[in-house]
Amino acid sequence: MARKISILIVDDEESVRDSLYNWFIEDDYRVECAENAKKALTMLESDSFDIILADIKMPGMDGLEMLRRIKSIHSESIVIVMTAFATVDTAVQALKDGAFDYVTKPFDPDDLSHLIRNASKQISLLEENEILKDKVVLLENMEDLIGKSPAMQRVFREIESVAPSNASVIITGESGTGKELVAKAIHANSPRKFFPLVSVHCGALTESLLESELFGHEKGAFTGAVYNRKGRFEMADSGTIFLDEIATISSKMQVELLRVLETRSFVRVGGNKEITSDFRVICATNRDLKSMVEKGLFREDLYYRLNVVNINIPPLRERIEDIPLLVEYFINKYCSIMNKPLISMDSAALRRLQEFSYPGNIRELENLIERAIVVGNGKKITLKDLPPGKEIAAPAFESLDDLEKNHISLILNKYNWNISATAKALKVDRVTLYNKIKKYGLKPLK
Ligand SMILES: Nc1ncnc2c1ncn2[C@@H]1O[C@H](COP(=O)(O)OP(=O)(O)OP(=O)(O)O)[C@@H](O)[C@H]1O
Ligand SMILES: [Mg+2]
Repeated sequence: MARKISILIVDDEESVRDSLYNWFIEDDYRVECAENAKKALTMLESDSFDIILADIKMPGMDGLEMLRRIKSIHSESIVIVMTAFATVDTAVQALKDGAFDYVTKPFDPDDLSHLIRNASKQISLLEENEILKDKVVLLENMEDLIGKSPAMQRVFREIESVAPSNASVIITGESGTGKELVAKAIHANSPRKFFPLVSVHCGALTESLLESELFGHEKGAFTGAVYNRKGRFEMADSGTIFLDEIATISSKMQVELLRVLETRSFVRVGGNKEITSDFRVICATNRDLKSMVEKGLFREDLYYRLNVVNINIPPLRERIEDIPLLVEYFINKYCSIMNKPLISMDSAALRRLQEFSYPGNIRELENLIERAIVVGNGKKITLKDLPPGKEIAAPAFESLDDLEKNHISLILNKYNWNISATAKALKVDRVTLYNKIKKYGLKPLK
């Protein structure tokens, strides 16, 4: 670190102030103390501190109120709150109000110096960013996230407000609503943006694979561990780790994860050296974690650690006003990927797209557009380039007949009602196809 980091300790108990003072002076920080919030605020008028370490429970103005005041004047200040274990809820509130982190009393000196080191790192990151800002054009990195509906505007505002902090975020929403994209946007708008965003798909891995994926392993830790391997937490140092499908992790992994989040340190599988890493955590799930906590399926303490901020992305059917914009965006995307001249969509087709129920949300819409460009004739996208009706989007065909009817109709439309081509694709003769068309009363779309 190029310059000395300064710390202000605010606590009404003299013994706490003294011991913290001595620890930090030894570690070569500049340290000052205040015995109450009022005194601290007065000191902050004439002096600036990089880190403010404040007790929550103090006579007079409490730590939370002080935190809010500090944040309203010096939004960039790093405030760490100290609290007795019994009041973790208050600490969670502090994180929501912009605290960098919290420590529970009585503290372990190692954990605390760890936390201060992470905070110092964050400060130098922010300072480096200030320098870089003059040299590069900062991307907003939100341009891939489309939506003008009030619901999406709310999501954008939440991303903007949470991105600069270190707060853990849980992104919730149905499959295909854009959870991963939102995680990327948070990282890309955070001070960590010049460092990696490391993703882990928790649902895709068994417990032991996930363990070595997250923590890494030492050579010989298990059969097949031929080399030492860095884990994802290590790779995410100074950056962000994205834990996708967090609801799927086993109870053993929940315990391990909680420990890592509390200490920011871990050992590799088969190793014995404690490794530290400074990462921010973003999680995603399409499950209702709160009710999993209530049913005892997900640890409550872990839930609160992760769920400092929750961003919920509404399903596409609740924001159909976004569909025309998304359609334009995906047409652009796929015409350019497939090297085709840009086309448009006629209004009947656009209307039909707004009638679907989209269980697969944006991903489903995206696939529909991609398919329409593939099967279309290179001119305007029309109804015949889309699946025949609403019922396709909600795949609940009870009988084989229904299934057959829909499939035949889909293929007929795909081949523009060319009977020979359709019969060939379905591997039936033309007479059979005619009989089926008659049986199901199928007609070409207008
Ligand atoms: N608002 C949006 N604007 C543009 N593209 C979007 C938007 N939301 C999602 N997409 C696109 O839709 C697809 C699915 O998004 P993403 O993978 O982020 O969803 P998800 O919620 O993580 O899905 P799953 O639950 O299946 O993991 C991606 O191709 C993504 O680029
Ligand atoms: Mg995803």
